[in-house]
Amino acid sequence: MKTDFRQVTIRNATEDDVGQILAIDEMVFSTIWSPNFLRQQLRSEKCFHRVLDKSGKAIGHSGLMRLHDEGHITTMAIKPENQNSGLGSLMLADLCCSAIDLNLKGITLEVRVGNSKAQALYRKFGFAPAGVRPNYYSDTGEDALIMWLSDLSDQKVIEIVESTINRLDVQKV
Ligand SMILES: CC(C)(COP(=O)(O)OP(=O)(O)OC[C@H]1O[C@@H](n2cnc3c(N)ncnc32)[C@H](O)[C@@H]1OP(=O)(O)O)[C@@H](O)C(=O)NCCC(=O)NCCS
Repeated sequence: MKTDFRQVTIRNATEDDVGQILAIDEMVFSTIWSPNFLRQQLRSEKCFHRVLDKSGKAIGHSGLMRLHDEGHITTMAIKPENQNSGLGSLMLADLCCSAIDLNLKGITLEVRVGNSKAQALYRKFGFAPAGVRPNYYSDTGEDALIMWLSDLSDQKVIEIVESTINRLDVQKV
């Protein structure tokens, strides 16, 4: 499935995207995955990795790992100059669509306790705090907040996913 928004496309990542994905991560994360770890994720049947592509260049990406009937968001990033224009919301709506298509019941993730912007994005889609993993991030020892979206079939979730895609005039092809 491809999602088109003007010149922006969300598509499955391939190994050709590794360099661009890691270049985005360098800009937004304090520690990044190794190229080999990312390649493993791209090859895994349990993982879905999406790229937000503008005119042939990656400007964002997201990852979802399937664990039985649950999804785990493994990463989500938008290039700094493209943030704050709704593209993070679009990427999350796209991941929720993938999870619904896969018949997953819910989605979970970990986010830095200090990352209030990402938490606000997840809350907007119905994710709720469900606990803390102390010292989760090895670079700073920061705690992780565990968040859960427990029912992907909830009408409110479907409405926010659809309204996000419709607000941005996205066409699915
Ligand atoms: C988190 C991230 C993906 C969001 O991408 P984005 O394109 O900026 O997101 P959007 O423009 O769709 O904004 C999403 C929501 O964030 C919230 N938000 C935006 N700016 C904010 C700010 N300064 N403070 C708090 N919340 C904020 C709002 O709720 C906004 O939704 P709204 O505009 O409908 O109210 C992006 O900031 C990013 O890549 N950050 C660095 C990597 C990261 O932290 N990833 C998450 C790891 S768990």
